[in-house]
Amino acid sequence: MGYPHQPHERETLVLSKHFGEAEARTLAGWKQRGGYRALDRALRMEPAQIVDIVKASGLRGRGGAGFPTGIKWSFMKPGDGKPHYLCCNADESEPGTFKDREIMRWTPHALIEGCAIGAYAIGAETAYIYIRGEFTEPIRVMEAALAEARAAGIIGSNAMGSGRKVDVWVHRGAGAYICGEETAMMNSLEGRRGNPRIKPPFPAVAGLFGQPTTINNVETLAAVPDILVNGAEWYTKFSRPDNPKSTGTKLWSVCGNIQRPGNYEMVMGFPFGEFLHEVCGGALPGRKLRAIIPGGSSVPIQTLDEAEGSLMDYEGMIAGGSMLGSAGCIVIDDAQNLVKQIARLVRFYAHESCAQCTQCREGTGWSQRIMERIVAGDGTAEDLDTLLSIADNMTGKTICVLSDSCATPIVSGIQKFREDFEALIKRRTMHPVAAAVA
Ligand SMILES: Cc1cc2nc3c(=O)[nH]c(=O)nc-3n(C[C@H](O)[C@H](O)[C@H](O)COP(=O)(O)O)c2cc1C
Repeated sequence: MGYPHQPHERETLVLSKHFGEAEARTLAGWKQRGGYRALDRALRMEPAQIVDIVKASGLRGRGGAGFPTGIKWSFMKPGDGKPHYLCCNADESEPGTFKDREIMRWTPHALIEGCAIGAYAIGAETAYIYIRGEFTEPIRVMEAALAEARAAGIIGSNAMGSGRKVDVWVHRGAGAYICGEETAMMNSLEGRRGNPRIKPPFPAVAGLFGQPTTINNVETLAAVPDILVNGAEWYTKFSRPDNPKSTGTKLWSVCGNIQRPGNYEMVMGFPFGEFLHEVCGGALPGRKLRAIIPGGSSVPIQTLDEAEGSLMDYEGMIAGGSMLGSAGCIVIDDAQNLVKQIARLVRFYAHESCAQCTQCREGTGWSQRIMERIVAGDGTAEDLDTLLSIADNMTGKTICVLSDSCATPIVSGIQKFREDFEALIKRRTMHPVAAAVA
């Protein structure tokens, strides 16, 4: 399948520069594009020097939480006599997010290079790329690229002739959202049920196979080679002048009721209103944008006003009433039943709960049933308070944040679009004919 998206002039192409170029998938094509220079350089540096460069670049995790990558790497202590591991999180199951699969489909060697550099920097000889099982094409492309890199001695027991062992392997998941949570992912990699682990101990202390482990998202690791080649300062320039905390470029996946859905690579701090209306083409003919979920389904819903006033970086999206998350942007227009959309997300979380924690197991199910009752026109006046009370008991009380993620669209939906819920509830008390035309 080809890459459908023609870059927009306001995009800043770093990660996606070679999307759509079939030759970039091959080792020869990747080397022609400057590939593996960064790894060659990294393997001749001290691990701590690499960590310092990544710290200075300001790179933050692109998997959702935005934790500074260099700081995460500095928790690992190369030379402590233990086996260390790097896990690349390629589970990408967050509704609305579809960027990591494009990195793997088009630039597999960028990810291999990022994984090898990351592994070396944290003192690991082995990196695993945990890929969502449904991603058949990205898995095929990654495995072909790994075979080429291994045959050429780029990875393996003497990576690029450096005398150092750095190997990278693909592991297929079986299609469970919870396996994207980093500790569930490690359990799944070990062959166990993908249940999140209680922390502490944190993965940097006792992670995969009980050993020090770092987990990073695909986009995070794929950004590393360019940072090493061009320098930390080059990366920090992709930011707004008044916010040095968010640097670099970010891939935004845009879907829903918008003229030009797709993946867009934007500089941190770009105005979100301009992005939605001009870069992505705005609303469909005859419709108006109404609500935006900017960072994957786990972040608060924004009103159009909030979205139009936001800047596309970690701090800018918080100031705009939401979060950057994984930058999986779901656009909802005025022709949609917003409550039905939220109910669908809640059903997803109820289905994907691993059921370890009572608040999540019961809370997601109760929320789903109440939301679906409201959508069906059988909601009661008390339902909104009940939903908010359940959401309160689901937030900040469980092993992982799947429970919080389910509560987020409900709470932000009721806070910002209460009239939509009330209109559906009011229909219950109407005569059926009046309700049908309401
Ligand atoms: C339920 C759940 C699902 C998650 N799914 C993903 C995922 O698909 N991909 C991902 O990179 N991070 C996912 N995360 C976040 C990871 O736990 C982790 O923070 C991330 O992989 C760290 O990488 P980063 O620092 O490079 O962002 C998920 C978290 C939770 C709680």
